Amino acid sequence: MARVLRAHVRDDVRTGVFRWLPLLPIAEPVPGLPAGGTPLVEVPRLAEHVGLRRLFLKDETRNPTRCLKDRATAVGVSLAVAEGFRGMYCASAGNAAISLAGFCSQLGLGCHVFVPNSTPAGRLRWLELFGADVVVHAGDYDSAFAAAEHAGSEHGWYSRNCAFNPFLVEGKKTAALEIAEQLEWQAPDLVLAPVGDGCTLGGLGKGFRQLAALGLTDRIPRLVGSQAEGVDPLVRRFKGDSPQTDTAHATEAHSIAVRHPRNAIRVLNEISASGGDLISVPDDAMAEAQALLGSMGGVVAERASAASLAALLTLRESEPLGGVTAVVVVTGGRIDDDV
Ligand SMILES: Cc1ncc(COP(=O)(O)O)c(C=O)c1O
Repeated sequence: MARVLRAHVRDDVRTGVFRWLPLLPIAEPVPGLPAGGTPLVEVPRLAEHVGLRRLFLKDETRNPTRCLKDRATAVGVSLAVAEGFRGMYCASAGNAAISLAGFCSQLGLGCHVFVPNSTPAGRLRWLELFGADVVVHAGDYDSAFAAAEHAGSEHGWYSRNCAFNPFLVEGKKTAALEIAEQLEWQAPDLVLAPVGDGCTLGGLGKGFRQLAALGLTDRIPRLVGSQAEGVDPLVRRFKGDSPQTDTAHATEAHSIAVRHPRNAIRVLNEISASGGDLISVPDDAMAEAQALLGSMGGVVAERASAASLAALLTLRESEPLGGVTAVVVVTGGRIDDDV
């Protein structure tokens, strides 16, 4: 099985996400925007700064709309078209909505997105340029999510809410499949990603477990998730602490500011199965990590995305990392004053 799959991904004429078609829940991809196939960039200066043996950045900012979300959207639009839907919807702090809007504009599908009132103007401008139908919800992401699900079922649109439609994380898992292939079928020691609803790290975890189950790799990496200190419900749950009740807590990292994560069980199970961890990081540590990614990695990450490097810098305080090979997933590159 492992030999057949390796040969398939080596020889398949498709690109990106759809090179992994035998491991995806779709029969035939639609010819949408080219998601996936992003570089794994070794960053020796940053590795030395952190004190690691080797450090790689999985640069998801190279996706068509600059975010890992495009992997899930590519799978979602294929399923929607195959099932005859003409309209799609999602709730989002910005990135998933922009991703859906980009793919829908290219394919001519209706796109209905529900965003919180905190959505930065730059992100609304992207949505406008992609021609999406945008509902700016009066509340936060959590209430925008409820409004989106209500409208989606009322109008019969296809859901691109990853925490609702279970097929979409299959797209996200392709980032893990690519990482293993790019490391010549070795799993790294550590993989770090920011966590909001939990679909991204949950999807990565599934990908690494599937690779090991199929005999493509001989182990799974430790998964380390990061949340903003101001909104960190999953960190609290992972550590057995009581949930945060003080809604005055906040973060500038809008993309991961999720108070009621909807893929909690999946991501917590994946982290536990990998022997990993969940770490809270303050906004100023994310800003510092964002600057390091730029100045020592040549990658521009959005604040929320830099939470994974911030978590790595926290981790090195409590454990020796000198022999470790780590992959930091740079999930998105849309800085908030970007237009
Ligand atoms: C850039 C970026 N990184 C990470 C995440 C977290 O993903 P998830 O909500 O699937 O945990 C998001 C989610 O919106 C995001 O936009």
